[in-house]
Amino acid sequence: MPLVTTKEMFRKAYEGGYAVGAFNVNDMEMVQAIVEAANECRSPVILQVSAGARKYANPVYLKHLVDAAVETTDIPIALHLDHGADFEICKSSIDGGFTSVMIDASSKPWEENISLTRKVVEYAHAHGVVVEAELGKLAGIEDDVKVESKDAMFTSPDEVEEFTARTGIDSLAIAIGTSHGAYKFKPGQDPKLRLDILEEIGKRLPDFPIVLHGASSVPQDKVAIVNQYGGEMPNAIGIPESELRKAAKMAVCKINIDSDLRVAFTAAVRKHFAEYPSHFDPRQYLGDARAMMKEMVKHKIINVLGSADKA
Ligand code: G3H
Ligand code: 13P
Ligand code: ZN
Repeated sequence: MPLVTTKEMFRKAYEGGYAVGAFNVNDMEMVQAIVEAANECRSPVILQVSAGARKYANPVYLKHLVDAAVETTDIPIALHLDHGADFEICKSSIDGGFTSVMIDASSKPWEENISLTRKVVEYAHAHGVVVEAELGKLAGIEDDVKVESKDAMFTSPDEVEEFTARTGIDSLAIAIGTSHGAYKFKPGQDPKLRLDILEEIGKRLPDFPIVLHGASSVPQDKVAIVNQYGGEMPNAIGIPESELRKAAKMAVCKINIDSDLRVAFTAAVRKHFAEYPSHFDPRQYLGDARAMMKEMVKHKIINVLGSADKA
């Protein structure tokens, strides 16, 4: 099956009360870990590429790695641009064979967010590509840009109908308490999502796919491995998986997970070197990292997203 858009994936996810995982890829091991996990779980999957990933790996390499994944499996796979900052990066991804792009103009003024998003939608739709945009502002770090939690803003349900109608987008990312990175809450804080806002948005936008960014849960068993073997990740706290499970049963059709995969990858590498200090063949420690990342993706598909056996 060739690369697909998220259109059909989201329709089924909405009706079926589950979400599709969108996992960030930066190299071959990550593509393999995610796609093997999704294939074994018979789950649809979205592979997403950030500006940082484009800079690290070169988008042409990443596209070919994803093509290899498509050639060796038969599950639905979409290739998505994560946090496209401007029209040019969206256009270049569309021209380069991506099937979905995000234009992230959420930090811009209202009219500017609408006109830029609309411009991307016109180009994307003319090329058979779908578009995600964002309303509201998440805290955390992405591409070296840090949004302090005091500057984060929940999405206003009053704005979503006008925004989706005027832009023509295919899915909407909202801010309801998730944030990017591995440090989402401080110790003692109640790590809850504003599911009441999600519910209200779901009423205003019937049958419309909602996206959650910053949805890593920061599994404490993996953080413990990192810390046990010389790492320093004190107070790394994420979104409880039970909260995400509830969101996936509501209007949320796409859940973005990156940090959890990074933590799993790093835990495996640190453990490997502690156990085998003489190793210097990258296949040995990258192989362990790929295996731990794959287990993490399977866990998400089965226990958080609910997308197993939906391919
Ligand atoms: O939302 C951001 C993703 O986690 C990608 O992170 O920009 O460091 O590649 P990155
Ligand atoms: P996390 O940092 O919570 O994994 O979020 C990733 C993300 O939103 C990518 O766009
Ligand atoms: Zn994000």
